[in-house]
Parts: sequence; structure tokens; C-alpha cells
Amino acid sequence: MSQRTLVLLKPDAVRRGLVGEVIGRIERKAGWSVTALELRELDRGTLETHYAEHVGKPFYEPLVAFMLSGPVVALVVEGERVIEGVRTLAGPTDPIAAAPGSIRGDFGTIVRENLIHASDSEDSAERELKIFFPGRF
Ligand code: TYD
Ligand code: MG
Repeated sequence: MSQRTLVLLKPDAVRRGLVGEVIGRIERKAGWSVTALELRELDRGTLETHYAEHVGKPFYEPLVAFMLSGPVVALVVEGERVIEGVRTLAGPTDPIAAAPGSIRGDFGTIVRENLIHASDSEDSAERELKIFFPGRF
């Protein structure tokens, strides 16, 4: 089942020079391809829409400040079961709980600075692709 998912390489990944490493892991999965890619700075409104489910939670404001702290790389990845697959490559939200071999497990220590966002369902992917690449998906 070919799908599309929205991936963000967060400001920590960009600052630490891990963009190539992370995209490389995604690109090497058989049959997956990156079909859109852009380095950009986000704004508060985009983040409020993107993280709507988290507005008002204690970690929300620090999360937004972090996501505004530098550019992100937004990309669209297409391929077989890519929504679940990129979540598996990323690992769980807490990088200390994430297994070595996963992106968060290999490179992260702090929950907020966990390097990568990936859509968590078909509905999320559809919604997030429209937020980050309006008119294209
Ligand atoms: P969430 O959607 O729960 O995680 P995921 O990115 O794995 O889908 O949370 C969104 C982001 O918010 C998460 O990547 C990092 C940040 N966050 C915190 O800073 N503290 C927290 O306690 C949680 C749950 C998330
Ligand atoms: Mg999430």
C-alpha cells in the first residue's frame, strides 16, 4: 500500500548537521522516495495548526519556542507503508526510551529535542501534508 507522509527534521537535527544522516536512512528503505523537500523557518500559526492536539499542554509553549529556534527541513516521503515505517525509523517520542538503531535512539537525549516529526496515521498525514505543502497535496 503506497502512502505519503510528512516529515520534519527539527531545528536540533539541522543545527547538529544530521540532515544528510536522517534523510539517508529514509532514502535507503527499499522503494521509498523523497518527493518534496525544503529548508524553512516556521511561524507560530503553522505550529499551532500542526500541533493543535497539544495546545494547552504543559510542554506546548516550550515545544513551539524550540520549533521556532531555527530552520527545519520539511519533506514528503512516498512509498510502501511509509507512515508506520518512518515512525519506526524515528523511534518513540522519548529518545532515552528509543532503541539504538532508531533515529531518536541513536542521536537524542531530550524529549523536546527529538530530531524528527513524522505523521502518525493516514488522517494525520493528509492533514499535515496540506499544512506544509498547500496546493501540492
Ligand atoms: P507527540 O505527538 O506526543 O510525540 P511524537 O512527536 O512522537 O508524535 O508530541 C509532539 C512533540 O512534543 C514531541 O515530538 C516532543 C514534544 N513533547 C515534549 O516536549 N514533552 C512531552 O512530554 C511530550 C509528550 C512531547
Ligand atoms: Mg505526534
